[in-house]
Amino acid sequence: MSDELTALRDELEGAVLAAGSLEALEDVRVRALGRRGAVTELMKSLGKVAPEERRERGQALNRLKQAVSDAIDARKAALADVELERRLAAERIDITLPVRPAPEGSLHPISQTIDEITQIFGEMGFRWAEGPDIEDDWYNFTALNIPPEHPARQEMDTFYLAAEEGRARPVLRTHTSPVQIRTMLSEPPPLRVIVPGRTYRSDHDATHSPMFHQVEGLAIGRSIHMGHLKGCLIAFCRAFFGVADLPVRFRPSHFPFTEPSAEVDIGCTREGGQLRIGAGGDWLEILGSGMVHPKVIANCGLDPEEWQGFAFGMGIERIAMLKYGIPDLRTMYDSDLRWLRHYGFRPLDIPGLIAEAAE
Ligand code: PHE
Repeated sequence: MSDELTALRDELEGAVLAAGSLEALEDVRVRALGRRGAVTELMKSLGKVAPEERRERGQALNRLKQAVSDAIDARKAALADVELERRLAAERIDITLPVRPAPEGSLHPISQTIDEITQIFGEMGFRWAEGPDIEDDWYNFTALNIPPEHPARQEMDTFYLAAEEGRARPVLRTHTSPVQIRTMLSEPPPLRVIVPGRTYRSDHDATHSPMFHQVEGLAIGRSIHMGHLKGCLIAFCRAFFGVADLPVRFRPSHFPFTEPSAEVDIGCTREGGQLRIGAGGDWLEILGSGMVHPKVIANCGLDPEEWQGFAFGMGIERIAMLKYGIPDLRTMYDSDLRWLRHYGFRPLDIPGLIAEAAE
């Protein structure tokens, strides 16, 4: 190779090695081997060389081109390795770091119990419904056949709110029954709803809290009768408490919005001072129920000659305490993490009853 070509090769190889990035290397390649590149120009001028020298010069130029091209490939591989090393270092995960601590929260027994109740009634075709905590007097009382001077209004220990000009004073709902009215007014029968929610009564002792929870059930159809009420509630009690032969008793009672009305008791024993749910000599009251009063049906604009059904309501705290052996109602609202760790439930746990039944 002539001195001139050797010098060019050394210069280009130097530039290749000096290229610090793939872009810089590409510049060098274009300068040497591109259409206007130094080596390409020399190749083009081969025609002007004297014929006797042409062959040797051609071979020398080919070797030069090959040498430069090999140098570029080698540099390209080296730069790619450097880039990979840099990324591996930057994206490294330090697996010796401690993992994040597990979340400490757990599901409150009231939430768990609501999940379980709605799951059981959901399987029976009841749909979840809700209503407002601040209720109009009409929905909470009047439409439910509790007229203004009715004694039930006093018994309910109602919290009243300040009235707006010319309007009846709103109340904190004393039960979830107003959602019966809201449901019948907002969707055409036949219908089945299960309604959990907060309720309020001015009452505070070991077994009463001014805020507590109820769940309401309502089924309206053309031929729903007391047998359906009994069948649903017996099935519910047995599924909820997980006792297949749990005795369930219907005791005549009175509510202004149902006729006839029945309170429901479940069997238990209190042997040795310990309460156990199941067959035994004793009874525990757990809910109120009845056939929806024809006046209530009519108050919702439905014809009581055509539509009838049943309703029930129960206190959630009470049945949660019975099922999970929680001795004091007031601890439910203490927000004591130690209590929640003991009585709480793992979030995302599927309520156990239906899963067990399906196994
Ligand atoms: N609302 C009643 C209560 O709070 C319970 C109930 C609901 C009774 C529906 C009958 C029918 O005690």
